[in-house]
Amino acid sequence: MAERKVRSLEELGISSTILKKLQELGITTVEALAAANAQELSQNLAVPLPTVQKIISQARSVLGLGFRTALEIKKERLNLPKITTSSKNLDALLGGGIEVKTITELFGEFGSGKTQLCHQLAVNVQLPPEKGGLSKKAVYMDSEGTFRWERIESMARALGLDPDQVMENIYYNRVVNSDHQMAVVEELKDLIPKENIGLIIVDSITGHFRAEYPGRENLTLRQQKLNRHLHQLMSLAELYDVAIIVTNQVMARPDVFYGDPTVAIGGHVLYHAPGIRVQLKKSRGNRRIARIVDAPHLPESEAVFAITEAGIRDPE
Ligand code: GTP
Ligand code: MG
Repeated sequence: MAERKVRSLEELGISSTILKKLQELGITTVEALAAANAQELSQNLAVPLPTVQKIISQARSVLGLGFRTALEIKKERLNLPKITTSSKNLDALLGGGIEVKTITELFGEFGSGKTQLCHQLAVNVQLPPEKGGLSKKAVYMDSEGTFRWERIESMARALGLDPDQVMENIYYNRVVNSDHQMAVVEELKDLIPKENIGLIIVDSITGHFRAEYPGRENLTLRQQKLNRHLHQLMSLAELYDVAIIVTNQVMARPDVFYGDPTVAIGGHVLYHAPGIRVQLKKSRGNRRIARIVDAPHLPESEAVFAITEAGIRDPE
């Protein structure tokens, strides 16, 4: 896929008055305009709705968000860049690696390797394409306080990269509650193009939502808010060609005797959203098992990887 540069609004031929107002609202790229809501924008700009609808649809067509043929879609999907996990087994399971324009959910019990894999990907996205990266930077949204720069340092060193350089290319944010988490995603509309971000990590996506909306009685409210959050993330993935990783801790259910005891309590986050769900399970020692759940285009199989000093690797 040809790399798409973030486009400036000037090329749409919008009048300078409106351009200035858009800039005041923080809408400075074609991508941001394409994602805007016409009603809201019309009010905020004090510009008639039809005019606003016109410039938004111009922005969308510049970005190819109008009609395309199914064949074009197929070609695009097949050529999406991928980020290596540093495990050949895991890459093969994922059809080459973590895909851009997609939300990948890593779910599994505590210690199953979700956070370790996030650290590895924050490093690997920076690799050049011939080594399995995108030559881009990462955003790390940490809701649990489990990010460790020391881990990034050793993973970078193990790949022969300059650790300080790698750490400088990871934009870290310790998100303190679900509203903060959603506000940070809003800010990414500016940060992604400005800093050449290729990967966004939300570790974990569910923690704050579960704590703030506990119990069955709050389930609907929680799910609604979480859906809005996922929708935010999906539109970032689509508009800016970034990869998105979200993690979700699920508890093993000792009461399940048959079948899989690691049932996602509270449900998979991506249950109703398009994306790839990867279940991680603990195995012997430093080995972990990954399995793709409900992805029609990927084989229903498992991959074994290891968490080593150097990071995620194939087992010895
Ligand atoms: P929760 O966030 O609690 O749900 O777990 P998680 O799925 O995020 O697990 P995480 O990725 O934190 O995996 C933890 C495991 O990774 C530990 O049990 C260790 O086996 C391994 N690990 C973590 N840090 C290191 C390290 O610095 N070196 C090595 N060799 N292994 C590590
Ligand atoms: Mg974790």
